[in-house]
Amino acid sequence: MPRLITCASDRAIGLNACIDALSARQFDPRDEDSLAHGALCLRELGNDRRFLGDLIARELADRDSPPREQGYGPQSIVLSSPQSGFFLRANIWPAEQDHAVQASGRGAFQYDVPHDHNFSFLTLGYFGPGYRSDYWEYEYEDVVGHIGEHVALEPKGRQQLTPGRIMLYRAHRDIHSQIPPLAMSVSLNVMHADGSHGWFDQYAFDPAAGVITDRLGTGSSEAFIRIAVSLESDAALDLAENFGRSHPSDRMRYACWDARAGIVKDDEARDAVWREAEVAGSRLIAAEARRKRAELAG
Ligand SMILES: [Fe+2]
Repeated sequence: MPRLITCASDRAIGLNACIDALSARQFDPRDEDSLAHGALCLRELGNDRRFLGDLIARELADRDSPPREQGYGPQSIVLSSPQSGFFLRANIWPAEQDHAVQASGRGAFQYDVPHDHNFSFLTLGYFGPGYRSDYWEYEYEDVVGHIGEHVALEPKGRQQLTPGRIMLYRAHRDIHSQIPPLAMSVSLNVMHADGSHGWFDQYAFDPAAGVITDRLGTGSSEAFIRIAVSLESDAALDLAENFGRSHPSDRMRYACWDARAGIVKDDEARDAVWREAEVAGSRLIAAEARRKRAELAG
């Protein structure tokens, strides 16, 4: 389960002071000193009981201001842009009985979706009783990443992000399945921001079956190559052929093969694409190609 971080301070700092302090020192959760400093900044921001309400009220009142950068869905408020290895975020966790969950369902708020993260982050219970999570751990290095792959998941029990509690979620290690809090809750995060994160996999799991059910958080490059190939640009097709065999990211390579398989005329031609992919030199793509060919055959 995520590491519980002990960090005491009664001082309260506002959002700008927190951003400045983190920027001055950089944030790298792999470094214990940096981690301790990040946790202290988060603790002291959490001690400011007014900043978030003030910020939301200000933004609601100012209809001319550009929308705050998002990217994590309707429950996240990005509090600072990525810089010096971090960005700050507030996450809102509605309760089961709240209208948003009743209207949109639990899945819209990432509840009941066991997943890991391709970045580490610190989280603090800021408001409300806090969401609960069931936890598992796994060995990222042992995983190829194909859908249906069996993964050894080690159960780590259930915890609650109670007010004031600080946890470090470790990239590619901690898996959690969130359960709505008993009342609306808010967590504050120091997110580790690194340009390379997007190229690493993040998975959804079925812990009962012990398998990977999905690859999450695909990058924009994958979406763009799929669109360009669908538009049947010759340049995009050449690039997809090239990237499919040689791109450093297996996920990007897979996107190229999948895009190519998506535009051929019939199942026979599709099977030929996946047959070629099967021997393209990637364990992930070989496994996915076998699965695709089995689907076509069945
Ligand atoms: Fe998560």
